[in-house]
This record gives sequence, C-alpha cells and structure tokens, in this order.
Amino acid sequence: MAGMHETPTMAAAQAGDPLCQSGRPVLSDPNGDFARHYNRQSFCFEHGLKGNPLFELDSLVALSQRLPAHPDFAYWSNGPVSVNDPWEKGMAARHSLQDTIAGIAGNNSIVILKHTEQDPVIGPVLREILSKFVEYAGAQMRDDVIVGESLILVSSPKRITPYHFDAELNYLVQVTGDKTFSVFDHTRALQVTDEELEGYFSGAPSAAKYRDANQANATVYDLKAGQGIHIPVTAPHWVQNGDNISVALSINYELKSVARRAKSYWLNHRLRKLGMTPASPGTSNFRDSLKTASATSLQGLRSLVRAAPPAPTWQVWTPS
Ligand SMILES: [Fe+2]
Repeated sequence: MAGMHETPTMAAAQAGDPLCQSGRPVLSDPNGDFARHYNRQSFCFEHGLKGNPLFELDSLVALSQRLPAHPDFAYWSNGPVSVNDPWEKGMAARHSLQDTIAGIAGNNSIVILKHTEQDPVIGPVLREILSKFVEYAGAQMRDDVIVGESLILVSSPKRITPYHFDAELNYLVQVTGDKTFSVFDHTRALQVTDEELEGYFSGAPSAAKYRDANQANATVYDLKAGQGIHIPVTAPHWVQNGDNISVALSINYELKSVARRAKSYWLNHRLRKLGMTPASPGTSNFRDSLKTASATSLQGLRSLVRAAPPAPTWQVWTPS
C-alpha cells in the first residue's frame, strides 16, 4: 500500500481520572493538537481507553441487548466486502446482532452500535470523551456543534471498512486491535468531487468512489490500540483491520456549518440534473446564502408531501 506512514507522538499521561480503568486520562492534549488541526487535517493522538473492560465482547453483547431493536441503533454486515462496496453489502442474510458480536473473531463482520453515549453503563465514559474533544478544540468547535454521538465499531480480523466519507466531524478511537487507516484530503477536488458530495448530501451514503490512482495521495496510519485519528468532515477514508479483533469508537459531531453547506450541495445536485454546472459552496457567501434559503424552502415543501417514517426517540448529547 502506498502512502505516507505517520508515527504519533506519545502524549504525557496524567493520573487520577476516575473514568479510566488503566489509570490514564480518557484524553489529554499536551501539544494543543486538537485546536490547531481541528477540521483541517487528520492527525493521530493518544487516549486512555485501551484495556477498559467496558469494551470487552461480553460487555458489548450486553450493551447490544440494552439498545432498542431498531435500525437507528445498530448496523451490521456479515461476510467479505471490498474497498469499493456500498454499506448495503452483507446485510441481505445476516446472523443476529448478538451472534455477530459474539462470533466476531471468525465471521468477517462489522457491527456499529449507535447512540451508545446514552447507555446507563457505558455512557458516562463516552460522554466524558465527547466533552474532552470539545474542550480541547475550544470555541471554534463548541460554537458549531449541534449534537455529539458515540458509535462503537466492532469488526473481525482483516475486515475491510469500505471507502466513504461522513457528514460528521469524527474522532476514531482505537480501543482494541490494530488497523491500517487511509485518510484522504477533503480539500482537494481530485480526492473528493462536487458530484460525490452532492450525491451524498442528497441521500446516497455510498456516493464516494474509490480510485486506485488516488491511494498514493492518502495519509496512511498504522493505528494501534490506545491511539486515535481525527478525521475532518467529508475527508474520505477506508480501513483494513490487522490480524485481530478491532473495537473502536467513532466519536462524532453534527455541525451547524455542515448543515448549511449540505443544503447547497443538495440544491446543486438538482441543478446539475437539470443540465447546469453549479458553483461549489464556498465560492460566494451571497450565493451560498441564497442556496441555503432556497433549499430550506424546497425541503420543507417535500416534507409536506412525504410521510415521515416512524422512528424511536432518544436523548441527545450537546456541549454543556
Ligand atoms: Fe467513517
């Protein structure tokens, strides 16, 4: 695999955080990395959740049984996938959620447990780390966050997570196992195109398309348990697990600035289907404001004529 390998610096450990079983703090930031690189570029950091028994498989099976049995709370996929596959791959005929987690060592699967920061057992430590990322990044983040969420990702040895990008600001926290993690620059049009962004923000979660020729431009991290990576909004990434079970957290945040940009991409998607070549968001504040207002009106009209699917309600985490 081509690409630059980065070696993270070891963060100074501080003792005394009651939430961290290892005696290390959940998170520390001795070098100011979280504010300096916030949503600009990926970087590697250290954390204190490695070895925490809350993330052992038995605990995660029990957690999955406490979550509501609804797709909003769990995603899982069984069987082999490639870097190009969509999220739907491996969902047609599945083991149960609990069997998938319990057998993760041998079933070539991935499980994503959602809204886990609300769980009575594991939630406190996850809400602690949600707060820490905001504290270290400062006002630039705190003033922009709508809600934060913790996902727990459990995946098999050698499992691939296909190439994709996310609308949420993300901190990937590796608790167990190791993986090779490729991240691409979200600011370079060659690596993420307007058409991909427009498709994604119009409801196609697998709109990002992996291109072999781009792999040489990736930053490739050899990620170990006890380390994490910051992934800026819409920075494409894909993952190859090592030869061991992986348990990781995706600590992510919905941002007001992204919600505005999403409306422009949504409208541009429709303009492009009409044969136009719309300007990218960010090239004109005035044009962006017009597009945001237009998209808000159009999306409001569409919601009036479409029946909303029933979904459970749940508490959300917001910065204090
Ligand atoms: Fe992701």
